[in-house]
Amino acid sequence: MNIQKGLKGVVVTETQIGEVDGTEGKLIYRGYDVRDIASSYTFEEIAHLIWYGEFPTIEQLDQTDFMFKKYRKLTPVMEKVLTSLPENMTAMSVLRTVLSAAGDDTFINKPSIEEAIKLTAVIPTIIAYRFRLLEGKVVVPPSKDLSHVENYLYMLNGEKEAEELVRVLETYMNLTMEHGMNASTFAARVTASTESDMVSSITSAIGTMKGPLHGGAPSEVINLLDELSLVDNLEEHLRAKVQSGQKLMGFGHRVYKTIDPRSVAIKNLLISLVGKDEWLDLALKVEQLALKVLQEEKPGRSLYTNVEFFAAAIMKAISLDPSLFTPTFSASRMVGWTAHIMEQAEDNVIIRPLSKYIGK
Ligand code: ACO
Repeated sequence: MNIQKGLKGVVVTETQIGEVDGTEGKLIYRGYDVRDIASSYTFEEIAHLIWYGEFPTIEQLDQTDFMFKKYRKLTPVMEKVLTSLPENMTAMSVLRTVLSAAGDDTFINKPSIEEAIKLTAVIPTIIAYRFRLLEGKVVVPPSKDLSHVENYLYMLNGEKEAEELVRVLETYMNLTMEHGMNASTFAARVTASTESDMVSSITSAIGTMKGPLHGGAPSEVINLLDELSLVDNLEEHLRAKVQSGQKLMGFGHRVYKTIDPRSVAIKNLLISLVGKDEWLDLALKVEQLALKVLQEEKPGRSLYTNVEFFAAAIMKAISLDPSLFTPTFSASRMVGWTAHIMEQAEDNVIIRPLSKYIGK
């Protein structure tokens, strides 16, 4: 029996949504290289592309935009659940729990784009509502006028943010909407493959995204950089970590065996946004040294910077609280998750692998 631990190298399905080319370092959404579209289209336009397979016409975009605005508000049940959760619950656990309260009878049908928009539209409201509640600030209801990303920052900060800042977050979110058969997308497809509903599938995905080996890495990157900011010999320190078997957060990837194209795009965005900055200098220096150490200590493993390393820095640069990093990543990945759930439902076979018994 041939066992592929972690399903390494196993192809589980065909997809028309996106392609992660780990050898060339390319990420494709529906035929478009993400580097060509991430900074020149809006979140709504790229979400439309991923869901429908084509960029929208003006009329179609109006309709998608209208739906996003329509579904931003929490339902009374979601609000009740959100306000009853304990203070020490992490933002990702709150997101998972409150979103699952959206799973009423309106979601029992075959997954649809309307359901995808409904859930994608409400995620920023859950994140911002909880954040302001914990901060002891007045909760800001969603705007009916602002774009998806503008509205997210508006609900978080209580005021309309500068266009430049919105563009930076929007570019980051556009770069991270979809990424092939990553762990959380696979989890969503497994749930969808049992003919369960879209809310349940997304709840599985959020629970999977939360782990530090997947979407939970950015906060760990901040911790690593904070720790390194107090250290004199960075290289020695990084080497000791790797030699003791620790993973350097923000490095390595299951599929990319070359530079992660998203990390390059985010790094360039960051440099143009921040310019000269002590913290950015540290991040750039740590990247260089970490790559050197990984090459020397783990030769032949092809370990490069992944999206999470500079994602942490970009979110810090736009003053997003670290507790919001993984929820924000999830807010953009909602588009990919929902597209995959619909694709799974189109040509469904229940996902049910085998295990080899080695017990008594
Ligand atoms: N630091 C140090 N060593 C590493 C790292 C790292 N970040 N990543 C991989 N390695 C080493 C492993 O120790 C292993 O060494 P070995 O051959 O001596 O045993 C070898 O490289 C292969 O690593 P695996 O863990 O087998 O690779 P896998 O494909 O299973 O894991 C993963 C990929 C989980 C991303 C891993 O690289 C990692 O844990 N990175 C740190 C966490 C992180 O940044 N996660 C975000 C990923 S991007 C995303 O999910 C959005």
